Amino acid sequence: MPPKKTEDKKIGATLVVGGGIGGMQAALDLAASGIKVYLLDSKPSIGGVMAQLDKTFPTNDCAMCTMAPRLVEVGRHKDIEVITLADVESIKGTAGNFTLKIHKRPRFVDEEKCTGCGLCVANCPVHNIIYVTPEKDKIDISDEHAKIMNSIIKEYEDVEGPLVPILQRTNETFNYLPEPVLRYTADKLNMPLSVVCRIATFYKTFSLEPRGKHIISVCLGTACHVKGAGRVTSALEGELGIKRGETTKDMLFTIETVRCIGCCGLAPVLKVGENVHGLMSKTMVPELLHTYEKA
Ligand code: FES
Repeated sequence: MPPKKTEDKKIGATLVVGGGIGGMQAALDLAASGIKVYLLDSKPSIGGVMAQLDKTFPTNDCAMCTMAPRLVEVGRHKDIEVITLADVESIKGTAGNFTLKIHKRPRFVDEEKCTGCGLCVANCPVHNIIYVTPEKDKIDISDEHAKIMNSIIKEYEDVEGPLVPILQRTNETFNYLPEPVLRYTADKLNMPLSVVCRIATFYKTFSLEPRGKHIISVCLGTACHVKGAGRVTSALEGELGIKRGETTKDMLFTIETVRCIGCCGLAPVLKVGENVHGLMSKTMVPELLHTYEKA
């Protein structure tokens, strides 16, 4: 066979355009075959739409749990070079031997020095404008609540990163996170209210609405879903006359849903407060509620 012309020769580097879940997996597969990969995305980071999702259809599994291992693997792989904030400007050559011209937009931070610590976000002079206005002095909190918060904040004064444990204790104490308390906490910790709200709204365990005395957390993870958690949830909703996420008028029960509480062998499972009830069925619901009503 005559030797191939130079322009026909295939050389080993590939470009994957789009750093979503598909792009990341393609880059990992190519890199695993020993090929150098350039993973290009027009956004400031890879992850794509999946990074913005909470749960995925049909099992309601956590999108981040599916994506995070791939993100880490792509970031660490020696043969994958991630190029973000960039677009393909032109392409020359043929399949297997081509050259691209990439236009990379400025990021306005030194990518070599950035460690992703997030401190620049917390100290952003634009967001913090709200915090330094006179509103700061108008926190409408009762003396009793201020006293409770002072003692909670004092408990964690030597802890590094005290916000999450303070919010956990506050949530336990009030059964939810009242707005004046969040403002007071931000003020006492000398941090922007936006940072406190970001944490308070991120974790499902925190509530911004008053909740009932007994919080029923029904697991809708895969194992419980398959074993009939949906029927148990419907029975609870029917008995209490509320939907998931709501609280009964007498403030006795709140129904919440969670994803896997770690005892899949007992599926379907629900928790009332910290008490775990396994192997549930819809017929067991009235008696369970009755027990807690009496308690
Ligand atoms: S899926 Fe319900 S406990 Fe694991």
